[in-house]
Amino acid sequence: MSAHTTDSKSPAMVGMQAPLAIQSEADDSPFSAKDWLSYFQHNKNLRPLVHLPDLIEMEEHIRAPLIRSLQKFQIGETGEGKHLKKFAKRIGDQDYIQCIDLFIREEQAHGQVLAEVIRSLDGTLITWHWSDLVFILLRRMLGLKTEIFILLIAEVVGKCFYKAVADKVQDERLREIFSLIVLDEIAHLSFHSQFLFTQLLSKTFIKKALVHYFWSLIFYTACFVFILDHRKTLNALGVTAAEFVERCSREFNRSAVAVFAEA
Ligand SMILES: [Fe+2]
Ligand SMILES: [Fe+2]
Repeated sequence: MSAHTTDSKSPAMVGMQAPLAIQSEADDSPFSAKDWLSYFQHNKNLRPLVHLPDLIEMEEHIRAPLIRSLQKFQIGETGEGKHLKKFAKRIGDQDYIQCIDLFIREEQAHGQVLAEVIRSLDGTLITWHWSDLVFILLRRMLGLKTEIFILLIAEVVGKCFYKAVADKVQDERLREIFSLIVLDEIAHLSFHSQFLFTQLLSKTFIKKALVHYFWSLIFYTACFVFILDHRKTLNALGVTAAEFVERCSREFNRSAVAVFAEA
């Protein structure tokens, strides 16, 4: 497993080091819960504190839809992950259990950062959204592997959305904040992909092909629903639906290659 650090000193994170991120090439390595535990512990210790001003100016045609999108992401990132933790315990690997615990905390930290961003954009938080409920129900349908497969779809879409925000917003502090979240999400994609790869090692080619087929169906449906729900934000960021699908597909296929690779 390889890793790299980025040094970042933005007005929003003065004097803090940016988190460690696992490179996407890490997908080639076999899964090691011990190595991933070191990564999550290291990343937690390097997590920058976010200090945003009371108000960040932004053009209204971007601000209003962006707040609505971030409100939904903020709910999704804030979950307690009780179900995921329960399933992880069944694996019986203490390192993996701790990884999942730190992974959930990392997502919750994203939720806190998003809450801060929403506040700075003069928005308010929401407490529920139908898309979050659908996502939770889908994840809980079967066991741990199903949960991680569905989680990976959310990670792919989230990573691509945060990257679009980091690339398109004018405010330098927000660009930094979203770039750092993207680095975390890249590591999450590798973490879950590598885990699923080891979980599917004993499965036959036919079983893997079927899983891939149904996973792809759910992914493209989720992508389509996401675009319908967030089209105003994507428009405001200058990203067309076709571009967003293309970016998500590329990311999804990269994860699929890692998950279904031949040993
Ligand atoms: Fe996240
Ligand atoms: Fe994530």
